[in-house]
Amino acid sequence: MEETNHIYPIFDKMLGRSDKEALLGQRGIMIWFTGLSGSGKSTVAIALERELQKRGLLCRILDGDNIRSGINNNLGFSAEDRVENIRRIAEIGKLFVDTGIITLAAFISPNNDIREMAARIIGKEDFMEIYVSTPLEECERRDVKGLYAKARRGEIRNFTGISAPFEAPEHPALSLDTSVLSVEESVNQLLALILPKVTIN
Ligand code: PPS
Repeated sequence: MEETNHIYPIFDKMLGRSDKEALLGQRGIMIWFTGLSGSGKSTVAIALERELQKRGLLCRILDGDNIRSGINNNLGFSAEDRVENIRRIAEIGKLFVDTGIITLAAFISPNNDIREMAARIIGKEDFMEIYVSTPLEECERRDVKGLYAKARRGEIRNFTGISAPFEAPEHPALSLDTSVLSVEESVNQLLALILPKVTIN
C-alpha cells in the first residue's frame, strides 16, 4: 500500500525523484572521484560532463572551486574539517541526485571512512566510486598549483600525500591513472560504466 502523510497531506502531492527522472529522461547518480591533489579528478570530471551533455544528459560538477570557495569556506584541512567538508558535499550531492541529475564530485576525500560516510548519506546504490590513481610522484611533478613545493618546504601543513595520509579505495568501480591514460581514454572508460546506469529506455 502506498504510504500517505495524514498530518501534512500536502506532502502526498509533492513530486518525487521518479517524476524528476521521467521529466529529464535520465537517472540520477553520484560519480565520486577520489585521488590526490593534482591527480586529474576535476580534469576528467569536466571532460566527462561535456561528453554526457553531448548525449543530452544533465550533470552537475561539485569540486573545490565551487564548494570550498563558497559553502565550505570556513573549513580547512584538519581531519575534522575534511570530514565536515565531505559531509556537507554529500548532503548537497544527494539533493542533486534526488533531482535526477548526474552529479560528479571531485574531492580528495582521503580515507575509506570519509568516503563510506559520503556513500551512506547519498545511498550506496546511487554512489559510484572512481579512484583517480595517478601516483604521488606524477602529481608532485605536475604541481599545477605549486602546493607540493610549498608542502615540502613546510609552508603548508597537513598536505595530503606529504604530511597527511591518503588511503586508496579498496573496491573502486574504476581506477584511472592519468599518468598512463589520456583524458579521452579515461572518459571512454567512464562512459562505458555510467551510460547503462543513467539511461532510461
Ligand atoms: S578533502 O581532503 O577532500 O577535504 O580536500 P578537497 O576539498 O578535495 O580540497 C583539496 C584541494 O585543496 C587544495 N589544498 C589542499 N589539499 C590537500 N591538503 C592540504 N593541506 C591542502 N591545502 C589546500 C588543493 O589544491 C586541493 O586541490 P585539488 O583540486 O585536489 O588538486
